[in-house]
Amino acid sequence: MTAEHDWVGLAAALAADLTGSGELRDPAWADAVAATPRHLLVPTAYRQQPDGSWVAIDTAGPGPAPAYSATTLVTEVDDRGRAVSSSTKPDLMVRMLELLDVRDGHRVLEIGTGTGYNAALLSHRLGADRVFSLDVDAKLVAHARERLAAIGHRPRLAARDGIAGWPAHGPYDRIIATCSVPRIPWAWAEQTAPDGAVLADLKVGPGAGNLVLLHRHGDRLEGRFASRWAAFMTMRHHTDDGPPVRGPKAAPGPQRDTTAPAQPWNTHREVWLLACLTLPPDVRYGYTLDQTTRAPKATTLSAPDGSWCEVDLTSDGTPARVREGGPTPLWTRVERAWDAWTGWGEPGWGRFGLTVTPDTHALWLDEPGDVIG
Ligand SMILES: C[S@@+](CC[C@H](N)C(=O)[O-])C[C@H]1O[C@@H](n2cnc3c(N)ncnc32)[C@H](O)[C@@H]1O
Repeated sequence: MTAEHDWVGLAAALAADLTGSGELRDPAWADAVAATPRHLLVPTAYRQQPDGSWVAIDTAGPGPAPAYSATTLVTEVDDRGRAVSSSTKPDLMVRMLELLDVRDGHRVLEIGTGTGYNAALLSHRLGADRVFSLDVDAKLVAHARERLAAIGHRPRLAARDGIAGWPAHGPYDRIIATCSVPRIPWAWAEQTAPDGAVLADLKVGPGAGNLVLLHRHGDRLEGRFASRWAAFMTMRHHTDDGPPVRGPKAAPGPQRDTTAPAQPWNTHREVWLLACLTLPPDVRYGYTLDQTTRAPKATTLSAPDGSWCEVDLTSDGTPARVREGGPTPLWTRVERAWDAWTGWGEPGWGRFGLTVTPDTHALWLDEPGDVIG
């Protein structure tokens, strides 16, 4: 038995699960999930093996159908073995659609068509003539167009770089990006209707950022980060996520203790965002492995100018030892971010906001006037 035989029941069960878990509150989106045959939009996905290789799977089953579980389905892998397109997990997708506050009659532009699943949900909710979606990958757009038409939706799709939006059909009441950006392109603001909104994943450093919902107020976009963290794959062609060229590793300074957490990118993501505002743009984090057990024993940061630091991972919460070297005091900057964040009362994402103008991005705490970076 596969989803081919009972996708209606499986899609209804997915909608019920998302509603039951509290992710989905708006019945209109529950109807859209229940009415969308995800296995037809994502017939094949790739699952990563322990050795890093990818194997193709049939999303309809047999067995529990991956298409109707709340999981991300990777659909495209590049020649370096990195996932470059996927069908976003439905729980995150509907959370974003609810955050976006889409209303009847809205016109919506999506950046990152991928499989077309989100475009299908939007088309069901608004009517396909109000839905516009772009992807930089022409092959993905061709597949999405064909598969969406096969289930009765004909939104306007194009193979274009999403950085420039799609001015020909603007302004849009809502713009939603399903790939992360290092800056909110001003073209998106220009194509947002007065009182319209943009929802995107802003990433200012490796993994540093979150979804932010920005409303158009005249000549600026402004709004708060989503209270829960989520991450998207990076926008292609506009994020240098390859290995940067590194200078020789500088000599270490004296060892010292730190009270800042050793891996803020995992445990304290708000702190990591604050740190990345002052760290070099090409900073990378990593782990030093124990030679015998191969388990991580320290975290590392490194920058192209040869600067580096290594922070021991302690299991008992005792202060960790830090070794740091080079012209840029990488760990010192993380510690400053940690001290600022604890001094502000350890604010969660919902207290941080962003104002975007043609030339600036200002990060603030609590109120737009209280700029912190
Ligand atoms: C997480 S997937 C999108 C999921 C999709 N919304 C869905 O429902 O299946 C991210 C997509 O962003 C696309 N993308 C990456 N860089 C882009 C760019 N510069 N312009 C437009 N799309 C881009 C990728 O090709 C990929 O398909």
